[in-house]
Amino acid sequence: MIMEAIGLIKSYGEGSATVKALDNVTLQIEDGEFVAIMGPSGSGKSTLLHLMGGLDSITSGQVKVNGRDITTLKEAELARFRRKEIGFIFQSYNLVSVLTAEENVALPLLMDGCKESVMRENVGKAINLVGLDGRSHHRPSQLSGGEQQRVAIARAIVNNPSIILADEPTGNLDSVNAEEIMDLLSNLRNKSGQAIVMVTHDPKMAAYADRIIFLKDGRIIDEERLGGKIDQKKLVSKLKGSTN
Ligand SMILES: Nc1ncnc2c1ncn2[C@@H]1O[C@H](COP(=O)(O)OP(=O)(O)OP(=O)(O)O)[C@@H](O)[C@H]1O
Ligand SMILES: [Mg+2]
Repeated sequence: MIMEAIGLIKSYGEGSATVKALDNVTLQIEDGEFVAIMGPSGSGKSTLLHLMGGLDSITSGQVKVNGRDITTLKEAELARFRRKEIGFIFQSYNLVSVLTAEENVALPLLMDGCKESVMRENVGKAINLVGLDGRSHHRPSQLSGGEQQRVAIARAIVNNPSIILADEPTGNLDSVNAEEIMDLLSNLRNKSGQAIVMVTHDPKMAAYADRIIFLKDGRIIDEERLGGKIDQKKLVSKLKGSTN
C-alpha cells in the first residue's frame, strides 16, 4: 500500500460558520493503483486530494505515505517530502509563465539542489516521456493547453514520485486532448508503476481507473472496481450467498 487516509476530517471556518469539507474519510491506495474520485461540486474531492498530498492542514485524522504519517512532519520536511514522493497535476497546469517548458520541469529538482548533470538527464527523460522533445524551449504561452498539461505532467514525474495526485487534469481540454492526456497518464502508470489518484467529473476519464471512489458531502458513499482486478469483498459476499 502506497497511501492511506485514516478518519480524515477537514473543517473550514469556526463556530456557526464551520464547513465540514471532509467528514471521516478512510481509504487506501495500493502500489501502482489508478483511482478516480468522483462526486458533485463541493463534495470535498479537491480537499481530499490536497490533504493526501500534504498541501493543506488536517483537522483530524492521519495520512500515511509509504507507512509514514505525513501529518507529523514539520513544514520544511513536508515540502521536501512532497517534492520527492508526490507529483501534483492541476486543471489549470500551474506553470511558471516566464520559464520555458524544460525550466518548469526542472523546478522541483532545482529546489532540492540537484546536480546539473543529473538534472539535465532527468528533465530530458521526463520531457521525452510526455512527447515534448521539440517543444522544450517554448514558454507556456507558446504551447497549446494539451502541451502545457504535458509539461505539468513531466514536472510531476521528474522526481520519480511513488504517487501522482491529479485534480481534474483534463478539465480545460477538448475531448481529443483529454483522451491523449489520459492515455499518457495510464501509460506512465503502466511503465513506471506510479499510483495515480485523479479527481474527475467525466465518467469517460474515470473509466481509465482501476477503481472509482464516490464522495458526497465529505463522505465516501460508494466504490466501484473496474477492469480485471478482483473485488475481494464482493467475491466473499457472493461466495457466502451461494452456500446459504
Ligand atoms: N479555503 C476554504 N475555505 C472555506 N471553505 C472551503 C475552502 N475550500 C473548500 N471549502 C469548502 O469545502 C467544501 C469542499 O470543497 P472542495 O473544493 O473540496 O469540493 P470539490 O468536490 O473539489 O468541488 P468542485 O467539483 O467544484 O471542484 C465546499 O463546501 C467548499 O465550499
Ligand atoms: Mg475541486
